[in-house]
This record gives sequence, C-alpha cells and structure tokens, in this order.
Amino acid sequence: KHVAVLMGGWDPERPVSLRSGEACAGALERAGFQVTRLDVDRDVMNTLAALKPDVAFNALHGPWGEGGAMQGMLETLRIPYTHSGILASGLAMNKEKAKLVFKAEGIPVAEAVVTSRFEAAKEHVLPPPYVVKPVAQGSSFGVIIVSADRSHPPQELLRDDWPYGDIVMVETYIPGRELTVGVMGGKALDIIEVVPQGQAFYDFDSKYAPGGSRHVLPAALKPNIYQTVQMLAEKAYAAIGCRGVSRADFRFDDSGDGDGALYCLEMNTQPGMTATSLVPEMAAHAGISFEALVTWMVEDASC
Ligand code: DAL
Ligand code: MG
Repeated sequence: KHVAVLMGGWDPERPVSLRSGEACAGALERAGFQVTRLDVDRDVMNTLAALKPDVAFNALHGPWGEGGAMQGMLETLRIPYTHSGILASGLAMNKEKAKLVFKAEGIPVAEAVVTSRFEAAKEHVLPPPYVVKPVAQGSSFGVIIVSADRSHPPQELLRDDWPYGDIVMVETYIPGRELTVGVMGGKALDIIEVVPQGQAFYDFDSKYAPGGSRHVLPAALKPNIYQTVQMLAEKAYAAIGCRGVSRADFRFDDSGDGDGALYCLEMNTQPGMTATSLVPEMAAHAGISFEALVTWMVEDASC
C-alpha cells in the first residue's frame, strides 16, 4: 500500500506535526508500506489528486488539519484517511462545542465561559483561579493559568501578534492530577498520569522536551476511579463520534483519600505521535509496537 503521510501544515502546531509525521512515516516504512512524506500547503488537494495514495495518514495537528477541513478534502477526493471524520474532528477541535456534547451525555466537565480575548483581558470573567484557553487549539498553545492571587486578568491576551484566534474559553481551574487515556477503535487503553517536572502545568515545554514531564503508566488510581476514567473516555469517544485513535484528557480533583471528582477536559482526535507522546506509550504498554499501531491506523482508515 502507498501511504501519504500528511504533516506540517500552517497551524501553530506545525512543529509538533512534523515530529509526529516523521515518527509515523518511519514506522510505516519499517512496517513495509510505500511512504510519501507530504508537508502540507494550500495546494494539498491538487497534490493528493495527482499522487493518488491508497491511504492518507493524517499526522496534522491544529484547527485546520485536525478540525475537519482536511478531512473534507479527503472525503471529496475519496482517499481513505486515518482518525476521525469531518463532524467529530470539528466538534472535538472546538472545546466549547465538545463540552456541550459531553454535558448532554452526562460526562462531567469544568464550568466555563466563552468570550473574546479582549473581554477576558478587561476583567476577571470567572473568580480566579481559572484557565484561559483558545477555544480551538492544541498542545497548550495560548493557555494561561490565572492563579487565585492574581488581581488583574491576563494582559498577554491583548498582544497584537496573538496567533490563536479571538475566541477564548475561560474555565474554572481544577486542582489535582492530570490523567489521559487513548481510545483505540472505541476501546480505552491504559491511563497515564502526567506529572509535569518543574513547570506549573502540562504546558508546551513539558509536553515535548525530553524529561519535561514524568508519565506514570498505569496511573496509580483506585480501581473504581481507573475504570470510571476509561468508561468516560470511551463514552466521550462515542459521543463525539470519533474513529481510529483518539485521546481524552481529564483532571482528577483528588480529595486525598483516592476518591474525588473527575472532569473531562477534551478529546484529541489526532493525538501526538512524537517520540515523547502519550498514545504510542500507552500502545506499547498494551503490547502494540509503534509499527503495529500505525499499521492498525492505516487498516482502519476510511472515507
Ligand atoms: N495536540 C497534541 C498534538 C496532542 O493532543 O497530543
Ligand atoms: Mg488538546
């Protein structure tokens, strides 16, 4: 099979996507596929129409490549592609809309208000502590944590060169632990607890710098909490209508005795596939090599 690995693009997560794409392209070659690496630009539709790959492996991250537009082109070209379809991609990319779906399904979420970055910079939209997130970005780009003692709303939102869109979600800060779980074809993998090293939260550097965070796999949780997280991840995957491999992120407000409240933060329909990424680690833990993982994704592709 000839697989075109779509990577790069022009979303802010371009550098991450290049790393995901290269890792996947290498693994696909080792698994015996004929691979074309495609750094995506606005001619991608013509390029793919001429190339006619059997499958497009979508290793793009960010609102354009992960949020439905690329998926729409691939549907139009009738090229089977990995990961979720148009609707699920669009829903998951928009944190506000995803929250509505989660709520409707009884999946617990943190309270949030959606507003413009200008309003969010004017006055506290929620009582601190809270988190400001661009409504549709990944890799923690543009995420600002406003601590309880901060008297002013974050002024960096007013930057002239702010590249993350004008709509932000202001979300109640959930203290506690960061949990994440991959869902492969509707079935949850084992849970990783992410413990950022040195940083205040699981930000861009702790995500991608080697040693930037410690991963505990499987996460040390009471069995009932463990099963609940996996169940909620599978429910979120089904509610959004995901396909292939996705990854759900949670906060666990641990009351100290191992019980506590869970909150689903988001569903990532094209989770990172770099050397330090979570899903390949979860797969390996389940006995699925990187090569077997990308092979499964290619076999699962449809349009
Ligand atoms: N948005 C990054 C790539 C992730 O979800 O892993
Ligand atoms: Mg994300």
